Amino acid sequence: MIRISPSVLSADFAHLADDIAAVKEAGADWLHVDIMDGVYVPNQSLGVPVVKAMRRVSDLYFDVHLMCAKPSWLIDLYAGAGANLITIHVETESDKTEEILKHIKETGCKAGLALDPDTPIEEVLKYLPLLDLVLVMTVKSGFGGQKFRPELLAKVEAVYEEAKRQGRDDLIIQVDGGINPETIALASAAGADCFVAGSAVFDKPDYTEAISGLRGAAQANVRA
Ligand code: DX5
Ligand code: ZN
Repeated sequence: MIRISPSVLSADFAHLADDIAAVKEAGADWLHVDIMDGVYVPNQSLGVPVVKAMRRVSDLYFDVHLMCAKPSWLIDLYAGAGANLITIHVETESDKTEEILKHIKETGCKAGLALDPDTPIEEVLKYLPLLDLVLVMTVKSGFGGQKFRPELLAKVEAVYEEAKRQGRDDLIIQVDGGINPETIALASAAGADCFVAGSAVFDKPDYTEAISGLRGAAQANVRA
């Protein structure tokens, strides 16, 4: 199943409720919520009170991506704020990854694990049985609007093959960074089925056209 998850990082923060309602209306499957702490990544975005406020005005599925040095203490806060799925980075609190993933599941949320471009995919594959989603970053995390790095697609292929080997048809393979109608086709062909798109949705005048264009390109190239 193809999922398009527009990244709220590129939304208009002065009109967040309107922008979230508009992407839902335009056919978004999920909403990707980027949380940056200014420590793990050199940028900041939004935080718990804003996610709570977003939840008050939207019933979209919130896919929360924590780019934070100490995710362990944030899990209960974001689960309580209305997250449906929480993704942590394998590079953060690496000695506690298993514990944090189990904690995410205990809150009732789905659990995801992300990796940045310099991290080998094996670091993530060893946690596969605990995961609902693997997030392969196709840019270095921290900023929207960067250029897609095609050399990282080998990691998507590796996740796809390992999931298949383990009989994990349910595993969601997400890509994030530089997704547009051309790059989504490559990522889909490599085995991804969940696509984060910030600028390729929110910077376009017509969200419906943007989302259906992305979906069509992904669908036309689904890995057999
Ligand atoms: C980058 C974030 C992304 C970002 C993607 O660190 O994790 O979710 O918003 O933006 P685009 O799609 O513009 O590359
Ligand atoms: Zn993200």
